[in-house]
Amino acid sequence: MSHLSCVVRSDGLAKTAELGQWIGEALQPGTLIGLVGALGTGKTNLTQSIGRAVGIADGNVVSPTFTICVPHRGRLLLLHMDAYRIKQPEEVDELGLDEQLEDGAVVVIEWSDLIEQYLRPLDLKIEITAPSEQTRAMQLTSQSAKGDAIIAAVTEADR
Ligand SMILES: Nc1ncnc2c1ncn2[C@@H]1O[C@H](COP(=O)(O)OP(=O)(O)OP(=O)(O)O)[C@@H](O)[C@H]1O
Ligand SMILES: [Mg+2]
Repeated sequence: MSHLSCVVRSDGLAKTAELGQWIGEALQPGTLIGLVGALGTGKTNLTQSIGRAVGIADGNVVSPTFTICVPHRGRLLLLHMDAYRIKQPEEVDELGLDEQLEDGAVVVIEWSDLIEQYLRPLDLKIEITAPSEQTRAMQLTSQSAKGDAIIAAVTEADR
């Protein structure tokens, strides 16, 4: 099965918020999303926008750098993770992510590339680069039907 990809260009916070909304609206239960990109490229910012779209109150989604996994309850249960500070990747096994995904949670992991070998294949990978202070290029790559549905929705919305 071939999977989809697309690039969304953001010229500021409003556009990134819009992307987060499109993703959040197309999210299905049991989706695993990985965010990859250098420090300060906007992984947390995009997660906040996704959270808003699934009904999580503004300001609740903050950088989880010091807590490995933070749960938020909206239309879906969103588990927000940051792999940057994980010293022992085996810790990831103890989180029971696969069971949570099976139970319908959505898992968003910043720095997912650092713990890739401890995760099941991602449904959607988002790679972020920052060409300038205010601009971002976000490459979305799907690896499942759930990821495909998100990319189809984003592609349709971003025309
Ligand atoms: N177009 C844009 N989209 C998103 N963020 C932007 C944009 N332009 C500027 N920014 C700024 O980039 C910063 C992104 O910070 P954020 O904490 O989301 O990054 P991060 O990738 O999560 O960093 P870390 O690797 O430390 O977790 C914010 O200060 C935000 O205001
Ligand atoms: Mg962050």
